[in-house]
Amino acid sequence: MNVASYRRVLAGGLVIASARPEHATQLEALQRVVFPTLADNQRFKAAHYLKHLELFPEGQFVGLDGDRVVAATATIRLHFDVDDRSHTFADIIQGGWLTSHRPAGDWLYGADIGVHPDYRGRGLALAMYAARQEVVWTLGLEGQVTAGMMSGYGAVRGRMSAEAYYEGLVAGRINDPTLSMQQRVGFKFRGLLRDYLIDPVCDNYSVLITLDAAKDVEGAVRPPAHVSPTKESAMSSIQLRTDVPGPRSKALLARRMSAVPNGLGKATDVVVERAEGALVHDVDGNTFIDFVGGIGALAVGHCPAPVLQAMHEEAQKLVHMCSLVGT
Ligand SMILES: CC(C)(COP(=O)(O)OP(=O)(O)OC[C@H]1O[C@@H](n2cnc3c(N)ncnc32)[C@H](O)[C@@H]1OP(=O)(O)O)[C@@H](O)C(=O)NCCC(=O)NCCS
Repeated sequence: MNVASYRRVLAGGLVIASARPEHATQLEALQRVVFPTLADNQRFKAAHYLKHLELFPEGQFVGLDGDRVVAATATIRLHFDVDDRSHTFADIIQGGWLTSHRPAGDWLYGADIGVHPDYRGRGLALAMYAARQEVVWTLGLEGQVTAGMMSGYGAVRGRMSAEAYYEGLVAGRINDPTLSMQQRVGFKFRGLLRDYLIDPVCDNYSVLITLDAAKDVEGAVRPPAHVSPTKESAMSSIQLRTDVPGPRSKALLARRMSAVPNGLGKATDVVVERAEGALVHDVDGNTFIDFVGGIGALAVGHCPAPVLQAMHEEAQKLVHMCSLVGT
């Protein structure tokens, strides 16, 4: 099974990481705690989480306290009409197996997000929305879309209509345990969804909400433009402007021939000027994907900003001290 490798340590030591198959049982248990009133046939089980991981590993996240799963979110990719208010949770998940997942879909659909009650108010949901937004940016999607549960409505439904509650939310007069948090994250309210899911806590109502790719989410780090695949294809990262080797490369290869012993072989005629992430640019303006990675020396890619910063800081203090002389 594929696994993704997202990991972000939050203040206080909680971690947001890519979900893994070994989390499936804990994820099922967490769903029961987080959505206690949701109809059982609408709740994800361990088998569902395993399926999500198989379909879309980079879209599944957990919040961890050590080895304990204390928060989670599951997402899929799909084509979505943000003006369509007629869909239900069952339509989207189609029996719970997320068969709506379209690997080329242009929206990231948040199928759930939940934090264990003991861990609420510590930024875990915000950090999971940030992780999701990084998926949006990395995959070049339109944004996040989800149905936010109108969690506070079930308690007041005898006193006001769903429409009045919704209007109060939009105007900021009503504070809802779920939707106000999502509003705070930056989600835009698109309209009320009736009978979206079976849960008395929200009287089956949800609100269609979207978070555009242009929006920043606190804590989310945009990937450098050059490592962000476009919607068409990752192949667009490769740019060939001249023959390989081009004229400037040929001149440098001749210089190498004349100055470097022949015993030092070379596998390609690529003459590299600069590189970032997984992309290498040659002296003739061609760009290649680097499948070599310094033969193990560049485990985090070329020129990652945190590594460069650490190198600069160290070099300003000390470049070299011969260890025969000092320590
Ligand atoms: C909704 C839920 C996921 C929030 O998780 P959380 O980890 O407590 O949220 P965070 O601590 O990350 O809060 C994110 C931001 O929203 C704010 N916020 C949280 N709840 C809020 C509320 N009811 N009203 C307004 N703002 C709220 C927080 O203050 C924080 O903003 P800040 O960074 O300025 O302080 C959690 O309460 C939960 O699991 N609820 C049950 C399941 C659920 O309803 N899931 C959503 C299904 S659509």
